[in-house]
Amino acid sequence: MAGSCVGESDGLTFWVAEQKDYDDVMSISVQIYGGNDYLPHRYAGWMTEPDRAVILGRRDGKLVALVSGLIVDEGCTVVVEGLRVCPSERGRGVAGVIQRFADQYIQQLYPSVRTKRQTKVDEPSAGPTQTLSKFTELGRRAGLSIIGEADSFEGFISHLRNKLHSTTGSEPGVSVPQMFLIEDEQHLKNILLDPELPSRVELPGGAIIQDWQALQPIEGNLEILARRNLTWLADKPERPAFLSFYTPPYPIPYKGGSLRFNIDMFGTDLVSAKRALAGHFEKVRERREVKGKVLVHVYLNKSLWEGMREFCEGYTGVTRCREYWEQLFLERGM
Ligand SMILES: CC(C)(COP(=O)(O)OP(=O)(O)OC[C@H]1O[C@@H](n2cnc3c(N)ncnc32)[C@H](O)[C@@H]1OP(=O)(O)O)[C@@H](O)C(=O)NCCC(=O)NCCS
Repeated sequence: MAGSCVGESDGLTFWVAEQKDYDDVMSISVQIYGGNDYLPHRYAGWMTEPDRAVILGRRDGKLVALVSGLIVDEGCTVVVEGLRVCPSERGRGVAGVIQRFADQYIQQLYPSVRTKRQTKVDEPSAGPTQTLSKFTELGRRAGLSIIGEADSFEGFISHLRNKLHSTTGSEPGVSVPQMFLIEDEQHLKNILLDPELPSRVELPGGAIIQDWQALQPIEGNLEILARRNLTWLADKPERPAFLSFYTPPYPIPYKGGSLRFNIDMFGTDLVSAKRALAGHFEKVRERREVKGKVLVHVYLNKSLWEGMREFCEGYTGVTRCREYWEQLFLERGM
């Protein structure tokens, strides 16, 4: 435990995380998010990401908690991620203690930060929403989770294309048009900075949520999005009414080792959502980005969930693996 202690409170000492803490962090992360944890994959990147703080809490030298904050919105907002407390310390307020320290630490480093933002799962089937004190809910999206072996993606894509063809009533032999791939940086910038985009595609709470990270569509955040190596699809090249992207699939602990494939969608048109889903699957397969077991999470406007659930059904190799769930987008002042 080299490095330097940056503070203490309530019996905990606080430290800036380093790469050498990886094994300790993994040891408090077993079973988190039902095996969907992104931190084993992202930890190394977090160590060097600009404007990110990763804070560890230790009791008597032993790691008990972690929280991270990424400064976004041109220095005005901190996006909280990665919060976790070791199982033996849960239910004793440790999450509150480390967050209070991290808030203060971040405000010292970045005095312009005024707002704290967070996303969180809500499982309506598990009972009433658990709210977080002092946070305001700005938006929510539905989550559709499906699972399959990468080898079955080819058959699944044909299944989706056939269904799309029949639901849109296209002429036999005439394929449904592909979504537009937005690759040019300037083109993407024009789309994202269009002041009408948030209302046209109904951005939840006015934010682009990229794999749980909520960012306002403003110039200073474009570089953060560019770091993520996203693949963007739009229903039309100019002034799209439907926009979506996928994050390159990454390894997660699920079932002893799987890939997580996240697709974020913005817009309310069901046919566009179907075309986008098929398009993203085609891209990852074409680029050979998937192998083994793949857990796919599609985040989308709530009105699309039922139609998309039905769209994905009927192919044995790829099946739904979770009941309807929601992603909550929360914010509070610092
Ligand atoms: C969720 C988790 C971090 C809660 O930790 P905990 O120390 O047991 O939480 P406690 O209920 O004892 O602490 C309560 C405090 O933590 C805050 N808190 C609890 N869960 C929180 C969450 N998911 N996000 C932000 N703050 C949370 C509460 O608001 C409260 O703050 P306060 O003291 O300022 O009022 C812990 O159960 C855990 O590690 N779970 C697995 C990982 C996970 O689900 N992380 C959450 C991602 S959103």
